[in-house]
This record gives sequence, structure tokens and C-alpha cells, in this order.
Amino acid sequence: IHSDAKLKDPFTLAQKDLNHLYDDIKKELFVSKSELKSLCDYYFDGKGKAFRPMIVVLMARACNIHSNRDGDLLPGQRSIAMISEMIHTASLVHDDVIDGSDKRRGKTTINEVWGERKAILAGDFILSAASMALARIGNNTVVSVLSQVIEDLVRGEFMQLGSKENESERFKHYLEKSFKKTASLIANSCKAVSILVNSDPEVQEIAFQYGRNVGIAFQFPELHAMIMRRFSTTGDVDRAWQYVLESDGVDQTNYLAQSYCREAIRQISLLRPSPERDALIRLTEMVLTRDK
Ligand code: FPP
Ligand code: FPP
Ligand code: MG
Ligand code: MG
Repeated sequence: IHSDAKLKDPFTLAQKDLNHLYDDIKKELFVSKSELKSLCDYYFDGKGKAFRPMIVVLMARACNIHSNRDGDLLPGQRSIAMISEMIHTASLVHDDVIDGSDKRRGKTTINEVWGERKAILAGDFILSAASMALARIGNNTVVSVLSQVIEDLVRGEFMQLGSKENESERFKHYLEKSFKKTASLIANSCKAVSILVNSDPEVQEIAFQYGRNVGIAFQFPELHAMIMRRFSTTGDVDRAWQYVLESDGVDQTNYLAQSYCREAIRQISLLRPSPERDALIRLTEMVLTRDK
């Protein structure tokens, strides 16, 4: 539907707002030339996909236009894009310790090069710098929205360590974990930029729901069909779920990813048209059609 070739792809459209992203982050990680500085800078070399900052700047411009402003980013909105990538990266530094991983973004992990103890501290330091930048925006609601993300990341990661839910709760558990581990950061960052332009509560909710649905949809292709096959058919399921449960694991995954994408598109379409809004729609369509 939105395949007009003249329309810029989301990555190109967001690029102008993201040119200084990594330089800005390195400035926030202000420690004098020391070993800690090299650990903290290590992943901010432009090799990450910077998906979250991209979604955040597009959402910010879409909300600004919706609120009858020019699209331009407010300084606080630009900070949220940066902070979202810092929180994300800090969580990955810790995740690689937890998982004992030796590769991240095409490089040897921090824990592998410098050891686990220093990796944990580097993650903590990046998180502290993100918190400082967040406080500087000077908006208490936004501080609490982004603090919720940190809580969710920890709870989501904790849920993954092991659970004692029964058969019928396994899928509910999976969805909740996906929200906390992946979607909460995107959803709440989108909400934060909307708050910063004083959007109506309904618009804040649209921004949140877009991020939430896209975040969950992105997780599904990663889902192992095996987990899916093990859900129980008992419990409280509506017709859509019944369909999902009756098809095989791969179809279930695709079907679910598609319903989350469709919901993301439905939500964001409620905003006034803008190139950025349309880019967010196309981004979601790209998830739907990407190679699995
Ligand atoms: C690293 O993030 C991977 C995870 C956090 C696990 C789940 C995430 C996804 C399946 C993709 C997330 C999608 C969106 C829209 C944010 P990453 O894949 O973003 O890695 P990177 O930051 O190193 O590029
Ligand atoms: C990647 O998952 C991990 C996450 C998305 C979240 C990790 C969260 C924590 C370690 C909690 C601490 C949070 C902060 C902010 C310090 P994965 O292992 O499934 O993906 P991978 O294959 O990319 O490693
Ligand atoms: Mg991992
Ligand atoms: Mg992990």
C-alpha cells in the first residue's frame, strides 16, 4: 500500500537526526582517558543498527507535526534517542556476561576482552551516564517513564533465567518477557518523546502502543517453533488464539508477528499524515515482509 518509490525509506529519513548519535554518546561517557573510557566507548563505533534511536526520532517528528508544530526535534527528544541506545547497549553488556557470550556487533565482547567484573562495571557506567542525561532533560514524568524501562529490562532478563509457570501460562510468560526485554524500551521511548511535545494523552498512548506492538513483532521471528508447539490449548483463548494454536509452530509465529504489525500500523495511522509517520508505517511493513 505504501510502496511509493519517491518516499524515502525510514533509515534515510532518520539519518539527518542520527549523524551525531555516537559522538554525542561518547561525550556523555565522560571519564578521563582511562581503561574505563575505552570499555564504555567500545560498542559505540557505529556497528549497531541503532533501530531504537531511528524509531524515536521518527516518532518525535510525527508527534510534533501532529501537535501542529514543525517537525524539528526538541533538544529533549534528541536526548531520548541517545538515551534509548545507551540503555540498550548497557543491557547488552550485562546480557553478554549473563549469557557468557563472546561476540557482539561483530566484535569480541567486553567480558571476553577485559573480563566479567570490568564488563559489569562498564554496563553500570553507561547506565549512570544515561541517567544523568535523562535528569538533564528536566521532566519528571519522562524520568519515570524511562526508569520503568530499566525495571522492565531487569525483570524480563530475570524471567528468562528460569520460570516455574505451568503449561497454560507458558505463552503468557513468553509474551510478558518479550514485552519487558524488547518492547518496553521502544514503547516508553516513543511515549517519552510524545510527552516532551505536550501531546494529548491519547497521542501518548498511540506512541506507546506503536512501539509496544513493533517491539513484540520484532521478537517473533526469533521465536523457536519448538516453544510454540508446547503451548497448551487449555485456558482462556479468543478466536484468533484458537487459530494460532491450531496451526503449526512456524505459521503461528508468522501469524502473531503479523497481527502485532497490523496493530502497530493501525495505531500510528491515527496520527496526522507526515513523512515520518508514513516511514513508521513502512518500517512495520518491512518487518512483515522481511526474510525469515
Ligand atoms: C539486540 O538488539 C537483540 C535483542 C535485544 C533481542 C531482541 C531484539 C530484536 C529481535 C530486534 C529488536 C527490534 C527493534 C525494532 C528494536 P538489536 O538486534 O537491536 O542489536 P544491535 O543494537 O546490536 O543492532
Ligand atoms: C538480549 O537478549 C538482552 C536484553 C534485551 C536485555 C538484557 C537486560 C539485562 C541484562 C538487565 C540489565 C539492564 C540494564 C539496563 C543494565 P538475548 O540474550 O536474548 O539476545 P542476544 O542474542 O542479542 O544476546
Ligand atoms: Mg544474549
Ligand atoms: Mg540473554
